[in-house]
Amino acid sequence: MQVVEEVSALRALVQSWKQAGLKVGFVPTMGNLHQGHLSLVEIAQQQCDRVIVSVFVNPMQFGPDEDFDRYPRTFIADSEKLQQIATDAVFVPAVEEMYPNGLEQTVVSVPASITELLEGASRPGHFDGVSTVVSKLFNMVQPDVAVFGQKDYQQLLVIKRMVEDLALPIEIIAAPIAREQDGLALSSRNQYLSEQQRLVAPILNSILKEIADNIDSGNRDYAALASSATSKLLTAGFDSVDYIQVSDPITLKPALPDSDTFIILAVAFLGNTRLLDNLLLN
Ligand code: PAJ
Repeated sequence: MQVVEEVSALRALVQSWKQAGLKVGFVPTMGNLHQGHLSLVEIAQQQCDRVIVSVFVNPMQFGPDEDFDRYPRTFIADSEKLQQIATDAVFVPAVEEMYPNGLEQTVVSVPASITELLEGASRPGHFDGVSTVVSKLFNMVQPDVAVFGQKDYQQLLVIKRMVEDLALPIEIIAAPIAREQDGLALSSRNQYLSEQQRLVAPILNSILKEIADNIDSGNRDYAALASSATSKLLTAGFDSVDYIQVSDPITLKPALPDSDTFIILAVAFLGNTRLLDNLLLN
């Protein structure tokens, strides 16, 4: 596996693949890799001849009070995991390589209708940071295919919209959410949980399933379902609930009573740890 730190070396490598007629797949990450990330690499491998993963903790997408400084950076373990599944290359740029002019830089901003609700409302500026870094990474790697997880469902929609609006010649593939056996969605932030919090954490997923069952059996009072789910999470030991919303899977606006596809999105805190999950219902 090739480890590349500089854009010039990255371009030379990808160019050599393209000249040989190979299809290039790309998986952007912030590292601290778990099976969820690796499942994205495996999907890319099924679709492509060569796969490159980026590991970059992007300062532009963290708010001033968020965990940028303490976000786990575990590059040695990450590169071992990538090597084990035969990843072709990993791109691990320094902050100065990604942002040669500092963070005051040209911003790629996806329309507010999709970036200012839910995650965007809780984390102002977050999606500008994501779309800007992903468009830079896309320009650096120039992949044919890129894989994103449905775990970050709104992020996936933001990237798809960016690719459409900017006519980028990249196919975006969505990967299912990888979970622990007890239903907790895998996340780099799970390791912040204490033993006690870890026992409570999977209830977030159970509550989503409970809402889904209720919708399945004809309950269309989404606001009441969300508010009863919020009370249950707080009773179960969550410290606060950022949002629980039953939305339209394309617009993310609240679902209508006669909708037949839904995404139930939720974010709740255990201590300072922000857990995010969702469930798509067709
Ligand atoms: P990160 O949180 O490291 O996630 C990288 C990719 O892995 C994202 O597409 C995310 O949705 C996916 N992923 C994370 N946990 C998953 C799980 N349990 N199951 C399936 N996929 C999962 O998302 C980011 O990094 C950044 O915002 C990034 C896109 C790299 C831009 O900086």
